[in-house]
Amino acid sequence: MPPRPLPQLTLALFKPDVCANPLLPPRILDAVRARDFDLVALRELLWARADAEQFYAEHRDRFFFERLCGYMTSGPFQALILSKPDAIKSWRALIGPTHPVRARLNSPDTLRALYGLTDTRNSFHGSDSEKTAWREIGFFFPEFDVDAWRATAGGK
Ligand code: RTP
Ligand code: MG
Repeated sequence: MPPRPLPQLTLALFKPDVCANPLLPPRILDAVRARDFDLVALRELLWARADAEQFYAEHRDRFFFERLCGYMTSGPFQALILSKPDAIKSWRALIGPTHPVRARLNSPDTLRALYGLTDTRNSFHGSDSEKTAWREIGFFFPEFDVDAWRATAGGK
């Protein structure tokens, strides 16, 4: 039998609009696990403006930056480390296109199609590359020990 591919880690966010309804995060997490993602870590947090500006620094000059920072500081949200072979691509495929209206038209089974509200209030985030995933995991989970994880669950 060929060896099973190693799991990869990605950083996911359940953004404040999702977390405003306490029924949604556990329901969505069930759906995520049903797609064979493992939940490695989860943290709930509330951002100050400076946190949002730091995390989204690459978008500082975009027209939606103010809106985005306002949205992401509007209430508590959840950061998750998810694992699965090819987790980065798989999670972005599961959340779907950035804009929920486009998601509803072209990818109706995706999470943004199901839950997203507007172009900015689009409910979910996913790392877009391995380099970004490392940076984002470190941002939200500075104590996370990837070597320890690889030596146990992540190496299986
Ligand atoms: P994410 O980083 O959150 O996973 O989303 P993404 O790669 O699909 O989108 P990105 O271009 O990185 O944008 C980051 C977040 O900014 C907000 N946004 N608003 N037209 C708009 O109003 C607009 N465009 C982007 C969204 O919250 C998006 O997820
Ligand atoms: Mg992005």
